[in-house]
Amino acid sequence: KEHDKKIKIGFSQAMTTDEWRRQMNQSMMVEASLHPETELTIKDAHNDVKQQIKDIERLISEGVDILLVSPIEARPLDSVIKKALNQGVPVVAIDRKTDKEDFTAFIGADNIEVGRNAAKYIVANTRGVINIIEITGADASSPAYERSLGFKQIVDQNPQLKITDKIRGNWELPSAKSQLKALLAHRKETSYIFAHNDRMALGAWEAAKELGVEKNIKIIGVDALNTPNGGIELVKKGTLTATILYPNGGNEAIKLAITIHNREPFAKNNILNTIVVDRNNAEIIENQMDKVDQQQKVIEGQLEAIKIQEQEFSSQKHLVRLLSFF
Ligand code: FRU
Repeated sequence: KEHDKKIKIGFSQAMTTDEWRRQMNQSMMVEASLHPETELTIKDAHNDVKQQIKDIERLISEGVDILLVSPIEARPLDSVIKKALNQGVPVVAIDRKTDKEDFTAFIGADNIEVGRNAAKYIVANTRGVINIIEITGADASSPAYERSLGFKQIVDQNPQLKITDKIRGNWELPSAKSQLKALLAHRKETSYIFAHNDRMALGAWEAAKELGVEKNIKIIGVDALNTPNGGIELVKKGTLTATILYPNGGNEAIKLAITIHNREPFAKNNILNTIVVDRNNAEIIENQMDKVDQQQKVIEGQLEAIKIQEQEFSSQKHLVRLLSFF
């Protein structure tokens, strides 16, 4: 059967409530369509760790050849990933890691570097004592841990920088905004906020705005999506001072999965580039991203046209077969 020859790629996605993850899924789907020898299945765990474990078990029992996982939390997923590996299914961690880092390969940006870049930006652009509030992502997820770690490394080397408070923002706007609003009322001397993603950074700005102090505080986020209300636009509008680009790695992950499946040489750590986006380069980066988006749209259009042709062809074949009865 033709079906059995396909490389079955299973992806356990943490959630798809936000644009960053929708783009990750989209770029995986486009890349997979460009490789007709692959068959991609995406399961959405809805930010529920137990569900994610079930999803992975399901993908293993459905007989995937290779597993991609973006782990909601680092620790609870170690054992189910071990299970996949024990059954001979290679596992690629994407964006988030597991605790023991026991997987076949990782693909994503270096989150320690992301945190360092945010702190270096503050050091390079400000003088005197700098009081910072940090808004972290979900406690148990690896990017939150690593972004904090990298940020602190640079803060510790620069005595003029001080993290006065850490808010656990849980990756989302509402939790970041409400907690920051309560805190900011008592933190008049804050000059910077580092939020672990742009959604929380926007929440931080809204909180500051409601307190009438948005002009006194510079906000740095992470992700730099090129969408309405995405980081690029927020930097261009001046809502955010900067954002650190965090590529989703969807298409690279599919390519890596195929490489591993074909037993070609690959690196265990596949680090994607990150860059600081501020008002000086936001426009240039936006133009670049627009071009990539346009190319992706063209590819999607072509794939769609091929699909329609295939459907017409197979219905014609069907018709010919029917006619040949008479
Ligand atoms: C999307 C997201 C991004 C963040 C990433 C970290 O779900 O919250 O905003 O950069 O996850 O894994």
